[in-house]
Amino acid sequence: MLVTGKDILVPARAGKYGVGAFNTNNMEITQAIIHTAEKLRSPVIVQMSEGAIKYGGQDLANIVIDLAKRATVPVALHLDHGSSYASAMNAIRMGFTSVMIDASHHPFEENVAETAKVVEAAHALGVSVEAELGRLGGIEEHIVVDEKDAFLTDPEEAVKFVQDTGVDYLAIAIGTSHGAYKGKGRPYIDQARITKIGELLSIPLVAHGSSGVPAEIVQRFRDAGGEIGDAAGIADDDLREACKHGIAKVNVDTDLRLASTVGIREVLRDNPKEFDPRKVFGKARDVMSAIVEHKMGVLGSVGKA
Ligand code: G3H
Ligand code: 13P
Ligand code: NA
Ligand code: ZN
Repeated sequence: MLVTGKDILVPARAGKYGVGAFNTNNMEITQAIIHTAEKLRSPVIVQMSEGAIKYGGQDLANIVIDLAKRATVPVALHLDHGSSYASAMNAIRMGFTSVMIDASHHPFEENVAETAKVVEAAHALGVSVEAELGRLGGIEEHIVVDEKDAFLTDPEEAVKFVQDTGVDYLAIAIGTSHGAYKGKGRPYIDQARITKIGELLSIPLVAHGSSGVPAEIVQRFRDAGGEIGDAAGIADDDLREACKHGIAKVNVDTDLRLASTVGIREVLRDNPKEFDPRKVFGKARDVMSAIVEHKMGVLGSVGKA
């Protein structure tokens, strides 16, 4: 069933588990996400960035909405990193049930004003809203606290932000970053900050940049001819811990990008005569499904729907 983000995330926060918010850009990605959720009886969020909307538009949104409506588990369609009020309203017109307004690069008061405007309009239409406070970006463990405080989310400010905006869930900067290069070894994630913010706020918290960039997938990518540097993602145990203390929405894009490309590369490498797109993209879908299954197990959402 197609539901709002709040319908999925409020129970997750209360139950101390996380729900994967996976980015989609085509039918196969969408199927891997939603069909795996059904198989595992897990709620799930499918998200489209502005880039995904530019690429797939209403055609892609309709695929997600149709699969969601027919799904036997709760599914929300979410706008990832909406950059303006107009962008959020456009997504709502397209049928999204959750939108992110990301004004986190603006000064606090401007972020509040932009977010509050989206919240007012979205709530009138029964759509839930995510906003972000702080600057996303990888940081090292040894960085001194003052420097961390300069761009990671300040707990007291987070409380004020939520009070002033009425936002439904809040993305916090905790040291994670987008993409396949999140730091050396085991990338740092500020668990103490999550716990503090989780104590002060009862709404669901959101972790962006939560791909695991599994070593096994990175190796398969290389073995199939891909070129990739010192890739590293967020450790499974770190996500488990974060979900106990307030993180309820866990954003994953990079892992599915890697998985789909691994599937495609392997089919083409192993079967030079193959040119049936169903063989090529079907394998990509299988590799992505395995990633989604693993993530849902880590987050603890299996069996919650
Ligand atoms: O946060 C960014 C997501 O990974 C989406 O990336 O804007 O290239 O679709 P994109
Ligand atoms: P990853 O790059 O770690 O997959 O993060 C995706 C994300 O945060 C989308 O908003
Ligand atoms: Na988002
Ligand atoms: Zn993000």
